[in-house]
Amino acid sequence: MKITYLGHAALSIEVGNTHMIIDPFISPNELAKDIDVNALKADYILITHAHQDHIVDVEAIVANTGAKIVSNFEIVNHYAAKGIEGHPMNHGGSWKFDFGRLTYTNAIHTSSFPDGSYGGQPGGFILETEEGNIYIAGDTALTMDMKLIPMKCQIDLAVLPIGDNFTMGIDSAVIASDFVGCNKVLGYHYDTFGYIVIDHDQAKLAFKKAGKNLTLLPIGESLSI
Ligand code: NI
Ligand code: MN
Repeated sequence: MKITYLGHAALSIEVGNTHMIIDPFISPNELAKDIDVNALKADYILITHAHQDHIVDVEAIVANTGAKIVSNFEIVNHYAAKGIEGHPMNHGGSWKFDFGRLTYTNAIHTSSFPDGSYGGQPGGFILETEEGNIYIAGDTALTMDMKLIPMKCQIDLAVLPIGDNFTMGIDSAVIASDFVGCNKVLGYHYDTFGYIVIDHDQAKLAFKKAGKNLTLLPIGESLSI
């Protein structure tokens, strides 16, 4: 599995021959100006919640690729009304796709669309594949629900928000990594706006002190599991 950081909370994931884009917010992100949205490959777009900083490039990517949306029921219905195909889920539910099994997990956050309309309840995803399992937390506080994850699935990489203010910050993410039973963390949802700028060295040190590894990928770079 190859995971590429597209800035903010946006990722590109390759599993076998399947390409997935997570929470695309690329074109307005000055830090991601070298990413060409029109060059992205996507069979699926996974959306954790309806906030602008997670959906802004969804329609452009669907127009280019014909990608199918996977998200909560309300977000999938929102796009279905625009003629876009999707697979609706809700908390605790999982579905076996051709690339592996996805579970929609709980997140402590909000989920309105930019126009104020209801975007369902926010979530995250567990992606289980033959190439490994990852947890993509979405925008969330630290929550005890994370402790349920390792009871069902061994996570090889936890993708956790670390920017604070709108989500949990670094100290909570260290604890979240304990809760999900995974010491290998990819940080996201940081540096994009003034409210969420972090000190990279300090963040890495906090994880190191806890016996964990925090990766902060430069935008456009990848890691493999
Ligand atoms: Ni959000
Ligand atoms: Mn966000």
